[in-house]
Amino acid sequence: MKIAPSILSADFARLGEEVRAIDEAGCDYIHIDVMDGHFVPNLTFGPPVIRSIRPLTAKTFDVHLMIDPAQPFLKDYAEAGADIITVHVEADTHLDRSLQFIRSLGKKAGVSLNPGTPESAIGYVLDGIDLILVMTVNPGFGGQGFIESQIGKISRIRDMIGARPIELEVDGGINPETAARVAGAGADVLVAGGAVFGGDDYKAAIGALREAAGDATAQ
Ligand code: DX5
Ligand code: ZN
Repeated sequence: MKIAPSILSADFARLGEEVRAIDEAGCDYIHIDVMDGHFVPNLTFGPPVIRSIRPLTAKTFDVHLMIDPAQPFLKDYAEAGADIITVHVEADTHLDRSLQFIRSLGKKAGVSLNPGTPESAIGYVLDGIDLILVMTVNPGFGGQGFIESQIGKISRIRDMIGARPIELEVDGGINPETAARVAGAGADVLVAGGAVFGGDDYKAAIGALREAAGDATAQ
């Protein structure tokens, strides 16, 4: 199980230190939530901030674009240091074209679904992606409650993936209790904002998520 702390919940006044701290605490990916105040009702940061934290860690930058449109900005995020670039199905009229473009930039292509979007929306792009991000909250804010209906969606997407080398990532309301349940449904990357940055011991928090998820998949 991979753990991807979301810097949306970090202390932005000390962002560089926070990035170093989650790296040293043993995270796998660094989840970077980009919001445009239009696709989602919140606004965060863009390529300059990503570029400025890029030299601080060698960890994978998992960039979650909650922006509409995404296509005109993909190259900027690739150049700023993203490793995985994830676009939302709901924000992209030409989803297949955007995913092909992300790969042509030498980056991993991800696709995300809002809680209200059925898994059938990604059926025809499965052979051109590296990651699927299932939102288990309505995107826009950290610290929201986990939406139960998404457990079934995660299982169905795990079946759709079959033997393809696609990672199944879950984002929103993840804590040790929900981590165990989404792991049981087939998730293999967990995004966590509040569950990591909410306390002082990031290493213990990441360990608790990993342990809860591992126990569930071992059953
Ligand atoms: C929500 C973001 C999430 C968020 C998760 O729009 O995509 O990555 O930071 O925060 P928690 O884990 O606190 O729900
Ligand atoms: Zn996210």
